[in-house]
Amino acid sequence: MKTRITQMLGIEHPIIQGGMHYVGFAKLAAAVSNAGGLGIITGLTQPSAEDLANEIARCRDMTEKPFGVNLTFLPSLSSPDYPGYIRAIIDGGVKVVETAGSNPQQYLPAMQDAGIRIIHKCTSVRHSLKAQAIGCDAVSVDGFECGGHPGEDDIPNMILLPRAADELEIPFVASGGMADARSLVAALALGADGINMGTRFIATREAPVHEKVKQAIVAASELDTRLVMRPLRNTERVLKNAAVERLLEKERSLGPALKFEDIIDEVAGVYPRIMLDGDLEAGAWSCGMVAGLINDIPSCRELIDGIMREADVLINQRLRGMVAG
Ligand SMILES: Cc1cc2nc3c(=O)[nH]c(=O)nc-3n(C[C@H](O)[C@H](O)[C@H](O)COP(=O)(O)O)c2cc1C
Repeated sequence: MKTRITQMLGIEHPIIQGGMHYVGFAKLAAAVSNAGGLGIITGLTQPSAEDLANEIARCRDMTEKPFGVNLTFLPSLSSPDYPGYIRAIIDGGVKVVETAGSNPQQYLPAMQDAGIRIIHKCTSVRHSLKAQAIGCDAVSVDGFECGGHPGEDDIPNMILLPRAADELEIPFVASGGMADARSLVAALALGADGINMGTRFIATREAPVHEKVKQAIVAASELDTRLVMRPLRNTERVLKNAAVERLLEKERSLGPALKFEDIIDEVAGVYPRIMLDGDLEAGAWSCGMVAGLINDIPSCRELIDGIMREADVLINQRLRGMVAG
């Protein structure tokens, strides 16, 4: 399939694996890229710029196809070494960066001068237009359904994507709630140039996370996610568990007085214990409503080949049959 995104990124299929903390290691990124999509290493999961450089080199050993790096700009007090991470990305010859979080404008010239394409993840039309205005090459439009941070507007993709299509000139991919060929064909119909998947890629054979994490996603239904940190205007969609219930109880009881320090035990530094050790109750971890559509743990190639094969049937048989009929 050829779209503006496959052409811009030099990939075979319009399917991107979004950056995911403690999931987006070289092994997963290479598996997605080898299957014809775009795999993405999560920059900040690597403790230092040097570690990121090593992870990029590991990925390069596993694939000759293009892959990207996610750089999430956090509103944190002690800022990570972003210039160092960017140097590792440029020196590593990476040609696609998925930015997320705060405005990446100050970092764009260095990366774009090195021939890097920037896909900025946005949860609203106004942020997407801002990304376009500051020169991003593409946008990943993340609807309310998404795992991770859906923003504060709560607009689901059935509305957000056609709104983005009406306003944007640069290509965009649909993110949040994407799982299969139906998602891809619907996203294309709504105006997107491809899809970005997070949660779906965690439940794959190559995802380097504990088996219990994959099984939890398979077992979960679309009713099993919760929104946390809304009072802090840092909303995150997570899988419900005992830690999340504790966190929500604190939000209810403290009300507007809630501070980040009150919930730090449930959210800070919990990812290694969850993703690597399989201690699922260690804290809150991002997961999309799309868990309700995930019932298996295929390889990345099986997943992507299946999506493309079934998309062809959907378009050329189901939809064409309707038009012809
Ligand atoms: C476990 C997990 C960790 C994530 N970590 C990040 C991250 O560090 N940076 C980021 O930009 N997005 C992160 N995301 C968001 C994904 O890149 C993607 O936008 C989102 O998962 C799409 O929604 P979906 O899960 O419905 O496919 C994370 C998502 C999950 C599920």
